[in-house]
Amino acid sequence: MKKVYNVAIIGLGQIGSYLYRELLIKKKEIQKKTGKIINIVAISAKNKNKKRKFKINKKIFYTNPLKIISDNKVDIIFECIGLSDGISKKIVEKAINNRIHVITPNKALIAKHGESLSNLAIKNKVNLEFEASVGGGIPILRTIKEGLATNKIHKIYGILNGTCNYILTEMEKTGDTFKSILKKAQILGYAEPGNPKLDLNGYDTLAKVKILSALAFNKKISKSNCLMEGIENIESKDFDMANQLNLRIKLLGITEIVNNRLFERVHPCLVKKNTYIANVNGVMNAVILEGMPVGESVLQGEGAGPGPTSSALMSDFLSILRGNIKYPFSLPNEVREEVKIYDDANYENSLYLRFEVKDKPGVLSQITKNLAQNSISIQRVIQVPDARRKTASIVIITHQTKQKNSNKSLKTLGKNINMLKKPVLIRLF
Ligand SMILES: NC(=O)c1ccc[n+]([C@@H]2O[C@H](COP(=O)([O-])OP(=O)(O)OC[C@H]3O[C@@H](n4cnc5c(N)ncnc54)[C@H](OP(=O)(O)O)[C@@H]3O)[C@@H](O)[C@H]2O)c1
Repeated sequence: MKKVYNVAIIGLGQIGSYLYRELLIKKKEIQKKTGKIINIVAISAKNKNKKRKFKINKKIFYTNPLKIISDNKVDIIFECIGLSDGISKKIVEKAINNRIHVITPNKALIAKHGESLSNLAIKNKVNLEFEASVGGGIPILRTIKEGLATNKIHKIYGILNGTCNYILTEMEKTGDTFKSILKKAQILGYAEPGNPKLDLNGYDTLAKVKILSALAFNKKISKSNCLMEGIENIESKDFDMANQLNLRIKLLGITEIVNNRLFERVHPCLVKKNTYIANVNGVMNAVILEGMPVGESVLQGEGAGPGPTSSALMSDFLSILRGNIKYPFSLPNEVREEVKIYDDANYENSLYLRFEVKDKPGVLSQITKNLAQNSISIQRVIQVPDARRKTASIVIITHQTKQKNSNKSLKTLGKNINMLKKPVLIRLF
């Protein structure tokens, strides 16, 4: 068996540069643990002269990462660029076709192209590893693949995006606006400075949910659009209301099998303050797994950042060095079934609805009449007038309501001339 492994890191941003240093520092430890000698023989980023957090060896720097593969001197590549398409996909495909193992933290790439890349990896008998794509440092994928290998998992839910959890936690704690907390998150490096949209609109969580579903339920990665709502419309007043109701707001990613169908969703939830998930705060992530015979399992840890992400990348790396060649999604692709999708029109929840309206007679009754017409029954109404602005916030907590009914109702209520803003909907979990 091979004794020396040549390694390349492509992308030297937050993750790649930290990983580069980790590999250098831990070279001896890796040799002790695996019996393998590792050499970093190539690195690549967009800009050779950019000042980086850690000093890099420019002698092994490639401006064109594809050339690293053509030069045919690496055994394992870390793809640390990001995004689902473009250069990242090209690198991963070319590497696998050249029988090079690939390790990536890129959830967007795996959620979108995981099936074809996994087929390619199996065909070329190389590893495609992506532990770091879900839950940062939490070893959730390996736990599903190995630790819980014979369990029948039927549901996974959790907090999978540290940026959103940090913003929600801080909004509740400080009463500050979404905008100002987002700015703080960007300064602290918890949110992308340029375009944090993919975190905030739920897409990042959904990509992770899709990877989790495929592994936990032994299915193909679902391609369908599913319920995805982010946190951009949540305001400080929602936290005041939630507090009055002894609830807390969390963005949850949820996947489960309902009547043999896959039901994936991402949306803000109101959770009881005394529950475990309500007390996972700041940038922390947590994943709760329900399976048979294991029962409920909880994993919690830092969900992002160079340290936790590198920890997961290193676990993939050592797995390869130990000769642990296996299917990317645990099973041969032909035994992983195509998914049948659950129709979320029948998804039922109690809802928190907030309407910002003109404060004048008859508005509340217009809302309640519309809800009744759509078979939505009311559990509680809280009305907070703003005399100066002649407006009011009306919060309605409903009994269990079908998704199709709330969609219909909010569509018409959104057009009501007394409505000042798009209504806010948060589901009780
Ligand atoms: N940041 C986190 O906390 C975190 C957590 C989990 C997973 N991830 C995933 O890790 C991956 C990397 O994230 P990151 O935060 O490290 O991103 P980043 O800081 O934006 O780094 C991206 C790197 O890719 C390089 N790059 C861009 N285009 C390139 C090209 N054509 N050829 C070679 N290199 C190119 C950039 O080069 P320059 O430096 O020269 O511009 C940069 O070094 C993403 O898939 C992300 O989703 C990140």
